[in-house]
Amino acid sequence: MAAEQVLMIGPYPEWDMADLEARYEIHKLWDAGDKAAFLAERAPSIRAIATRGELGASAELMATLPALEIVSCYGVGTDAIDLGHARAHGIRVTNTPDVLTEDVADIGIGLLLAAARKIPQADAYVRSGAWTRGNMGLVTRVHGKKLGIAGMGRVGAAVARRAAAFDCDVSYFDVHRRADLPYEYVDDLVALARQSEFLIVTMAGGDSTRGIINAEVLAALGGNGILVNISRGSTVDEPALLAALESGGIKAAGLDVFWNEPRIDPRFLALDNVVLQPHHASGTIETRKAMGQLVRDNLAAHFVGKPLLTPVV
Ligand code: 8YV
Repeated sequence: MAAEQVLMIGPYPEWDMADLEARYEIHKLWDAGDKAAFLAERAPSIRAIATRGELGASAELMATLPALEIVSCYGVGTDAIDLGHARAHGIRVTNTPDVLTEDVADIGIGLLLAAARKIPQADAYVRSGAWTRGNMGLVTRVHGKKLGIAGMGRVGAAVARRAAAFDCDVSYFDVHRRADLPYEYVDDLVALARQSEFLIVTMAGGDSTRGIINAEVLAALGGNGILVNISRGSTVDEPALLAALESGGIKAAGLDVFWNEPRIDPRFLALDNVVLQPHHASGTIETRKAMGQLVRDNLAAHFVGKPLLTPVV
């Protein structure tokens, strides 16, 4: 029997590629010169897309694949996948929740510590020899501070658990109050920012949260405030953030995600009060192996007609 045909939008680590290529006929869109011709030739037989969180699958792409049955996403965020199109055309969608939660939360706290304690600047201070000419300037304490979390889903709750170990006073904003959690609920993002010394953004991307961290929220966080974004670049109004960082409207930021990845706004590079990460919060070997396994398990379940492990649509 011929192997099922799977379209990949971008590569996965080698261990996933080896496994996928052993089971399926893999079509590598990122390798194609003329993508339209590449798709036109293979479209009739492609039954699955394996994509990544930041690459997604547009309605235009799905519409070119008449035999498409499933989109399996290596990542928890499905904001770059047109779920409406998938639903309307009976295309299943899966993601990789839970397996990456703790790593993403680690980086949330890591970026907060790095931005407040200026860890990258301290490293550069030692390497450059500046230390031999005098001590580095003082930095900002993290433990015991008021931490706001924007989005109390899986990642938000994991950040809150870590912050509790730092004796932080945790409060959060979300569309719904989480009655199962002990943290203070604030139903207004500006009010949350105003009462917080640090704000960590963990909410899902997409139209409903686009630019939700706007100039008003940043002004409320204020000149001593630190913003951390481990969600999607789209949740933050980036020109407003750049203006706040440049003018001292907020003190600092730790950012894993941006509007135009990987070609981020060069204004970030000139700033000393921002710590940058290349959308790498889930990027540990352990978690990426678990994510790849889940993508493969979802595809395998689909092709033998078993229930999907982590369905979104
Ligand atoms: C990416 C992510 O998928 O889980 C998500 O939503 O954004 C990430 O884990 C990752 O960069 C893999 O490409």
